[in-house]
Amino acid sequence: MDLGLTGKWALVCAASKGLGAGCAEALAAEGVNVVITARGEEALQAQAAKLRGINPAVQVVAVAGDITTEAGRAAALAAAPRVDILINNAGGPPPGDFRDWEREQWLAALDANMLTPIALIKATVDPMADRGFGRIVNITSGAVKAPIDVLGLSNGARSGLTGFVAGIARQSRIAGRNVTINNLLPGAFDTERLQKTMAAGAQKSGQPVDDVRAKRMSAIPAQRFGSAAEFGAICALMCSAHAGYLTGQNILLDGGSYPGTF
Ligand SMILES: NC(=O)c1ccc[n+]([C@@H]2O[C@H](COP(=O)([O-])OP(=O)(O)OC[C@H]3O[C@@H](n4cnc5c(N)ncnc54)[C@H](OP(=O)(O)O)[C@@H]3O)[C@@H](O)[C@H]2O)c1
Repeated sequence: MDLGLTGKWALVCAASKGLGAGCAEALAAEGVNVVITARGEEALQAQAAKLRGINPAVQVVAVAGDITTEAGRAAALAAAPRVDILINNAGGPPPGDFRDWEREQWLAALDANMLTPIALIKATVDPMADRGFGRIVNITSGAVKAPIDVLGLSNGARSGLTGFVAGIARQSRIAGRNVTINNLLPGAFDTERLQKTMAAGAQKSGQPVDDVRAKRMSAIPAQRFGSAAEFGAICALMCSAHAGYLTGQNILLDGGSYPGTF
């Protein structure tokens, strides 16, 4: 299927590795020009080179910076002639016990996983509506649907974003002008983040990391972790010209882990 995206411009945040990188790769393969961001310059430039290899016909701009800061967002926005597609993403907050978290930790989580996507939506959504096309996908987490107790910062901040998006996606000046806003909720995806979490779990329990990995996978009905490539493919589909009637939704990609009927 032709996704109808050739020549569009996407801003894909936090995209040198993992899920963001998977989204940028799928969009570039569909002929979308991409601006990618991350803090680490080296990995970002390597990913930009990979994207140019995937589709030499698209423009790839790499902007190093912290997307959770105003300066980082301004630099990312300035790098694209326009933003037709916005993929909101940033690192997730650390795990822990809520009894140990102070206002500072909460503000950092809110900045990264709620206020940054809201600021980028605010900066891009009205021009999208004026042009009659826009696709916004927020990478959140399966923890929004089924909270994970040690990820309280993530559960809280991402649920705040989810509630906000549910409201604005349904504004007629947004939905009525072919601008969609949806959330993509990853379950367990085999990225650097997941590998680090498992390595930490193995160290804590004294078990070999392969055992921790196998145990975690066997608890997933699909019996495996997801890949960044399949995450990116669904993201590209949600951004496609054909997905204009899909808005305000939370799409869970978790290999069947969530046990509910809906
Ligand atoms: N993988 C999973 O199973 C899973 C499950 C549920 C939710 N999630 C969430 O999905 C998001 C992506 O996860 P992932 O697994 O793809 O992580 P990852 O493999 O660690 O990749 C994170 C990417 O984001 C960039 N990044 C992080 N913080 C940034 C910042 N402040 N500004 C700009 N770029 C930043 C990183 O580059 P730099 O470090 O160089 O900046 C890297 O490119 C996270 O919020 C994570 O919590 C992931």
